[in-house]
Amino acid sequence: MAILTGSNKIRTAVFISGNGSNLKSLIKFTKKKKSPISIELIISNNLKAKGLKYGKIFKIKKKVFNFENIKFTENKLISILEKNEIKIICLAGFMRILSKSFIKKFKGKILNIHPSLLPKYKGLNTHKRVLNNNEKYSGCTVHFVNSKLDSGKIILQKKVKILKNETEETLAKKVLIEEHRLYPKAILKIFNL
Ligand code: GAR
Repeated sequence: MAILTGSNKIRTAVFISGNGSNLKSLIKFTKKKKSPISIELIISNNLKAKGLKYGKIFKIKKKVFNFENIKFTENKLISILEKNEIKIICLAGFMRILSKSFIKKFKGKILNIHPSLLPKYKGLNTHKRVLNNNEKYSGCTVHFVNSKLDSGKIILQKKVKILKNETEETLAKKVLIEEHRLYPKAILKIFNL
């Protein structure tokens, strides 16, 4: 695919639940000429998500849904995504599970970042489980989302070495730094850039 410019960029929504450091790194990436995407919408299930501040800072539209009634919420979400002509969804620390029908609707268009070397350590508390199992390595994975949790086709992974005296906090920090590099690279890769 040729390098896209300005309004030709692929309109993307980023879904967050917390700090939004991956959102921030993706926004920084979109400022580069080589980015094939533009972030047009931030979605959160959590009104208190710290990452929502990036909507204000970078003037990106944001919407919060409580996801109490998943069908109702997803229907609203779909209409907002369609209205904003969103073509790609990046899950970035989004801690809600999307329904099978939502995922089917955006098949091949939803990406996720996970803080482990999938298929190992799907789900929550990855760093704790990795350390409890005395693993030598951990890392992060960007993958397409399918209807099974953390199981879609892997796009890219980055390994990190686990040091002696590693704690959940030091490992999380180290992996997160790699996540910030990996997500943009994975986006370039899916567009053959
Ligand atoms: C990241 O480590 C991400 O991989 C993880 O949550 C963190 C979000 O950080 N995601 C999951 O565990 C998804 N199952 P951020 O809000 O600072 O980007």
